[in-house]
Parts: sequence; structure tokens; C-alpha cells
Amino acid sequence: MKILEVKTDNCKYPIRIGADIVRSLSTITKKFVGQKVIIVDKNVLSLWKDKIDEIRKSIDASVIEVEASEHNKSIEVATSIWSELISLGVDRKSIVINIGGGMISDLGGFVASTYMRGIKFTNCPTTLLSMVDASVGGKVGVNFGGLKNIIGSFNQPTEVVIDLEFLKTLPIREYASGMAEVIKHGVINDIDYLKNLENKSIALEEIVLRSCEIKKKIVEADPNENDQRKILNFGHTIGHALEEISIELHNDLLHGEAVALGMIAEAEISKLMGLIDESDVELIINLVSNNNLPTKLTFEVDFEKLVGLIHKDKKNSAKNINWTLLDRLGNAIYDQLVPIELVQKAFNKLV
Ligand code: GLY
Repeated sequence: MKILEVKTDNCKYPIRIGADIVRSLSTITKKFVGQKVIIVDKNVLSLWKDKIDEIRKSIDASVIEVEASEHNKSIEVATSIWSELISLGVDRKSIVINIGGGMISDLGGFVASTYMRGIKFTNCPTTLLSMVDASVGGKVGVNFGGLKNIIGSFNQPTEVVIDLEFLKTLPIREYASGMAEVIKHGVINDIDYLKNLENKSIALEEIVLRSCEIKKKIVEADPNENDQRKILNFGHTIGHALEEISIELHNDLLHGEAVALGMIAEAEISKLMGLIDESDVELIINLVSNNNLPTKLTFEVDFEKLVGLIHKDKKNSAKNINWTLLDRLGNAIYDQLVPIELVQKAFNKLV
């Protein structure tokens, strides 16, 4: 097992990679004299019934099941979980354990952070995407008004327990979705990592470790996304808008798929701004495509609608769209302004 420690000004917590989840949760929850509540993705529960049962018994936890879809990352589902917490008699000495993908850690973290002004929570990610991104860094929230993660806050977990065994049942498409965030980490912050990903010369456990190291470093430098953490938003300005349109259409684009498309468009913007070369954009497109991720849109997107959604993005300020772009492979810059004609031109690359 590898342990990383995330340290910010007001908190410190471990990320345990390759952990035995049953043993880790027993140790973590011993410190809590109140209730232990597992919030789990229904799908994970059915695939890993024995394992979840073993956890439940070993820590004497109650289990709340959630159908994990972006549609359910909602205030309505949060409300129903708050009601269950009240019925279970959950108090401030209790702990919530989120077992599932990013949807579960976002939603469960949000529920825990707001219940009784905040109770502790631990994330146990079961998808590659949540292992390398969502479970680390304390972004908690729900979708609202057709906008991704628009209601929420920053609140760090007490621990992140990564049991890689869960990846054995992860569908190929979900695995690819996680690889989008992995590719992003190389593209924005680590050229050597990017080259290793390109050559496929890095094992899965190493990928999870390296991505967690990059995420940890960025979160530590700027936990509340005032500046440097914005580089993690590369691919997400267009990506989130595409995801929002897809959710509305019930079109089922996965988060990583939307981010992959967003990265291609935002790399193209970087090129049109004179920051990177065509060969850099090509490298990103090849990496995306070689990892079973889309390089073109498979549904119709109205550019005006896309821009309307981008304008509502929480990353913006003073009516400006704040873009994260690349000034070279392995390095991103944030708060960049881009003429709308260039955005349109780059978007056309996806059509
Ligand atoms: N997913 C981007 C971040 O955590 O900042």
C-alpha cells in the first residue's frame, strides 16, 4: 500500500492507495462514537455484495443506496439522504463513508458537509475517475438548474481509501472515462507522465499513484481554487457545457468523455492563441483516441447554447469566461481570455 498525505492550512488527511478497504475502514471509524453510514452506489453494491456486507458488519454501519447517475446528483436526492440521516439518529460524532464513483463522493460529501453544519466523511472511490480525481481535493456538490456542480462547497474528506480491486468490475467505457482525467494530469502538469502514457509504459497502480500525487500537489497549493487549482479545469469549460447538454438530452455522455472532447477543443484554442503547435494538439487527440475516448461529437450541439452554458460556469468572473489553456505540453495557464471567434473555430474541430 502507498500512502500520500494531503496537507492544507487547516487539514491533513491520507490517501491510501491499494488499501484493504475493510481493515482501513475499521481503523478509521473506531474514532467515531456515533453512527457509521455508508452511502453506496447501487451498482457497486450488487457487484460487490459480499465485500460491502463485510464492511457493513465490521463497522456496524447503516447503508444508504443511491442509483448513481448524474440525474441523481441532485438536491432532491440529497434531501432524501438528509431525511434518512435524521431517522437513523446520525449526530455530529458520526461518519459518512462514500463508496462509489465521483457522483457518490460529490453527493455524499455534500450531504455530510451540510448535515448538522457538517459531519465527517471518508471517500472510498470505486471508479478510476474518482480514484484519480473526484475523491481527492474536497469538491462536494450537486447539479442544479441544468448546471454541473453549481451548488456545493470545498470540504476535505477525513481519508481517501483506494481499493484497486474495485477496478476489476469497471466497464471499459468507465475506465476510459477515468483515463481522460489521467491524460489531463500529464497534459497540464507533467510531460514525463504524458510521454509514459503515450508509450503505454506505466502500470495501472502507478497511474493512480502519479495522478493522486499531481492532484495532491495542486490541491495543497490552492485548496479553494483561487488560482493554481484552476489548471485542473483544463478541458472542463467546454467539457462541462457538453455534459450539461448531454444530461438534458438524456444522451449519456460520461464525464471523462466530455472532458476528452473539451481537452481537444481547448488544446485547439491554445494553438489558435499561438501558445502551442499543431503537433501538440495531434498528440492529445491521438492519446484520447488510443484510450477509447471520443474525438468527435456524436450528437448535435448548438454553439450559441454551448456558449450560453459556458457563461454560467462558476469559474467565470466579471462576465468574462476564464479559460485554462496550455502554454506548452505539461504546463497550463489559467484566467485566459479568448475571442469568441476562436472558440467557435476550435469547437468546429469536434463536429
Ligand atoms: N476536478 C477538478 C478539481 O478537483 O479541482
